[in-house]
Amino acid sequence: MKPMKPVSAERLPELLRRMPKAELHMHIEGSLEPELMFALAQRNGLTVPYPDVAALRRAYVFNNLQEFLDVYHAGTLVLRVEQDFYDMAWAYLQRAALDNVLHTEIFFDTQTHTGHGLSADVVINGLHRACADAQAQLGLSASLILCFLRHLSEAEAFEALEQALPLRDKLVGVGLASSEQGHPPEKFAKVFARARGLGFRLVAHAGEEGPPAYIWSALDVLKVERIDHGVQALRDPALVARLVHDGIPLTVCPLSNLKLRVFPSLTEHNLGRMLEAGLVATVNSDDPAYFGGYINENFTQTFAALGLTAQHAYQLAHNSFAASFIDASASRAFQDRLAEVFEKFD
Ligand code: ADE
Ligand code: ZN
Repeated sequence: MKPMKPVSAERLPELLRRMPKAELHMHIEGSLEPELMFALAQRNGLTVPYPDVAALRRAYVFNNLQEFLDVYHAGTLVLRVEQDFYDMAWAYLQRAALDNVLHTEIFFDTQTHTGHGLSADVVINGLHRACADAQAQLGLSASLILCFLRHLSEAEAFEALEQALPLRDKLVGVGLASSEQGHPPEKFAKVFARARGLGFRLVAHAGEEGPPAYIWSALDVLKVERIDHGVQALRDPALVARLVHDGIPLTVCPLSNLKLRVFPSLTEHNLGRMLEAGLVATVNSDDPAYFGGYINENFTQTFAALGLTAQHAYQLAHNSFAASFIDASASRAFQDRLAEVFEKFD
């Protein structure tokens, strides 16, 4: 990475906001803001079990991943028809464009919704229509990654994969999300092998709360191309060496880690140490409606807490395009736009 002219601490947040970036770890159900949740509930003749938006937001206090997942799954009950999925995704995509996100790879799951009696097509078609409109109307490229829920069985993941196959062209990859502890990646060895055979790109959450061993098995058993979170990797020097050697990207989500108490404060977050170790880290928002901020908020708060610099910003944004599933020429074109913004910034 070429050296860069220094940017003052006062100007750095503006550079972080303005810099082109890709978002690679954002669960669309986690972008459902309380205002839209209430509006969808009303449209569908349902009730949210909180008196108003403010009361709902006040309930967003979590001690760990599981406490969050319980609230997050309850929030998805307002999603009933294709237009609901479209509206949720369109709201996120508009917000992402404002943060200068040029490309986003959106996580979603079908199992939560089929568990509520919806069909997988309703979910995928609604989300995909919003992605197509984002390209046409916002110039924002967006693709979809189907996450299996790891607290459920591998047989249920197979069912989710089979249901999605008629809509294969609307998806770029598969991932693994939900309760990590006690559900190691190898539980899903066969379904990932099948997805790989079908040409899906592969990612998995690993090393968020779970041990480095889960990152090893995500790589060696599932054969994923990126690790979602991966912040526990620094506990294992041999794993760090492997991740650096193979250039495996890690999609880090600092505000999520703070809200789910993976780190006691942002000043103790290990993003700076990850970059120093040579890891291909990126910054992402995970579940922005629940964790207090979209991608730019993750950048500005983390940079302020850790004293990171313009050089780190460039590296992280450059990594985000390199780590994405777009083709190499599109990635280079985005990286050229990134370089131009940095060159012109003063
Ligand atoms: N689903 C939504 N957000 C998640 C997270 N941070 N970890 C695991 N599964 C999730
Ligand atoms: Zn996640």
